[in-house]
Amino acid sequence: MSTVSGRREARGLLVVGAAEVVTMAGGLRRGPAQAEPAIAPPGTAVACLDGRIVAVGPEAETWDALAAALAAAGGDAAAVDRLDASGATVTPGLVDPHTHLVFAGSREDEVAQRARGATYLEILAAGGGILSTVRATRAASEADLLAHGRRWLAQMLRTGTTTVEAKSGYGLDTATELRLLAVAGRLAAEGTIDVIPTFLGAHAVPPEARAAHPGDPAGATEAYVADVIAEQLPAVAAQGIARSCDVFCEAGVFSADQARRILLAARALGLAVRLHADELAPSGGAELAAELGALSADHLGAPSAAGIAALAGAAQGARPVVAVLLPTVPWFLGLAAREPARELIEAGIPVALGTDFNPGTSPVTSLPLVMTAAALTLGLAPAEALAATTVNAAAALGLADRGSLAPGLRADVAVWDVPTHAQIPYWAGADLLRAVVAGGRIVAGGATGARQQASRGTLPDGRPAGS
Ligand code: NIG
Ligand code: FE
Repeated sequence: MSTVSGRREARGLLVVGAAEVVTMAGGLRRGPAQAEPAIAPPGTAVACLDGRIVAVGPEAETWDALAAALAAAGGDAAAVDRLDASGATVTPGLVDPHTHLVFAGSREDEVAQRARGATYLEILAAGGGILSTVRATRAASEADLLAHGRRWLAQMLRTGTTTVEAKSGYGLDTATELRLLAVAGRLAAEGTIDVIPTFLGAHAVPPEARAAHPGDPAGATEAYVADVIAEQLPAVAAQGIARSCDVFCEAGVFSADQARRILLAARALGLAVRLHADELAPSGGAELAAELGALSADHLGAPSAAGIAALAGAAQGARPVVAVLLPTVPWFLGLAAREPARELIEAGIPVALGTDFNPGTSPVTSLPLVMTAAALTLGLAPAEALAATTVNAAAALGLADRGSLAPGLRADVAVWDVPTHAQIPYWAGADLLRAVVAGGRIVAGGATGARQQASRGTLPDGRPAGS
């Protein structure tokens, strides 16, 4: 709240007139519930005060709730913006639970290499791929990395994303990993999109470790795992920016045993754990995610049957592991295999979707486009895809304060220029966003219209007649 002429002024927002309000209320979705969007009755408005949702209901009631919340907060007046959502669909702001946001450079050359028959892991083994981005990232200044992050966050915002996870992993040495996390922390502090930093030191084996163990790739990998555990993790924990630790658990990169050692060390330092699991081949990643009670198991392009069974077992418990699927990755890599989304949902495993934004396998910022890919290539229904980019994606990040529209949650709201959520994945690649609200502020699209003053105990100007 700010003080205006000696009075405490709160910031209010009313989203009104929507054709459809999808609340996603009711918590994490799994099994048949993944397809239940929780659509509010026609005429539902969403009222927000000081960055939180205070009411979702008939417009007149939301005005009363705003006045009551204002009084409870000890405010004297609220400047209430009215956001016209007529004809539109209102959803929670989207949550992208898996990105590699902070890096330098680009890798369009690898698209051509793959078109000529090279595989993703062959390019990496030859010193390209992730390692090419590591070279560019180590050479980039913090200012360059910040500018890059802002550029792509702005793109994400324009397609409705209000929270984004951001991994390190293109430094592969303590100093650069800390620098990437510091950049993610700065971007978070800038505060338009909420950025949730993750430490991914075990993303690839750096060239120094290979050089120290010539002709012994297994020894190089072991030595680097030891460095991640003994040097990088304590420094990352002391820095205090990363909230979780990830490992690229994949045959030929880091084994499930190595990932387990890293993630147990991370957990002992207070970090949550998540995994790149079985992206390209069954590697024990899904099994390990279930064993550790990870927040999420991501990719799952090729999990084993035992891995799916382990995740299904975990899904029966109070803290299921969320399967984060990234369907633009196999598309961008030209792979025929698809994540077994229907099998996962039928097994009762909660499914989320992310962009995996990164320069190698998914230079994609748009969650609506990911929803389109999920609908077309994984067989997800629009409501399933929307649950996967809102409430389930928030759960994958361990965030209970967002992902649905309900009183007390963060005021993160997307307004789409379509009459029903089923059209969000349907108009593939179109710019559908009328407005996006992040932390209670209209940050993209949407003329705010006239600000209306509301005072405690009196009806706000502009309140609908008869209410
Ligand atoms: O999620 N597979 C590992 N990491 C990224 C790709 C990183 C890169 O190629 O730069 C992924 O696909
Ligand atoms: Fe990834």
